[in-house]
Amino acid sequence: MTGDSDRYWDEVWEAGAQGSPHDGADALLVAELAGMEPGRALDMGCGDGSNAVWLAERGWRVTAVDFSRKAVQAGRRNADAAGAAVEFIVADAATYRPQGSYDLVASFYIQLPPVQRAAMLSRMRAALRPGGMLLFASHDRSTPPPGWSKDDLATLTSVDEVVAELGGMEIERALVVEHGEPSEHDAHGHGLNSTVVIARARGGG
Ligand SMILES: C[S@@+](CC[C@H](N)C(=O)[O-])C[C@H]1O[C@@H](n2cnc3c(N)ncnc32)[C@H](O)[C@@H]1O
Repeated sequence: MTGDSDRYWDEVWEAGAQGSPHDGADALLVAELAGMEPGRALDMGCGDGSNAVWLAERGWRVTAVDFSRKAVQAGRRNADAAGAAVEFIVADAATYRPQGSYDLVASFYIQLPPVQRAAMLSRMRAALRPGGMLLFASHDRSTPPPGWSKDDLATLTSVDEVVAELGGMEIERALVVEHGEPSEHDAHGHGLNSTVVIARARGGG
């Protein structure tokens, strides 16, 4: 990673246009949601839509947001190829205001600077129905990726920071996941740790 601009990400997704940098949904999403009753889902920083498409294929009504037009184009292609209906939106996740009420809000490895991340999490939290689930994963501060700039390193997270930014939510699990060797559904392996937080909006029984 060398920046947080949409232009940077357009180049990344353009380069991967003939084939996604990874295939399939995130292992965390698969583990947490397999078998869960589908509802309405929001995926922030959706990239090429691998998670959004996986959800849509399982009956979820998915809104997927990314500020890279190339990512959204790739997402639309992948959704079409899978015969899955996903609403893709080109928008900055830090300022995008979700419409309506969601059963699931998720963000995987969007890597925003702290102020923008807190703004995104606040909007994600507000978009949940009572009892709805928030899934958040990002690169953890404990394993700084080699070659990242100072600005990139500022986007790494710790469990404590993310939990603090989700004040008011019921935290189900908050942990550092140590990735071993990359596996079929574990695109974020390569020895990097992840901050993972699973939380629920209060209320809803
Ligand atoms: C590492 S990719 C992860 C993609 C996907 N969530 C996944 O796990 O495969 C990060 C994505 O976040 C998007 N992104 C970064 N900053 C963003 C922002 N401020 N608003 C919306 N999308 C953003 C990038 O365009 C990129 O597609």
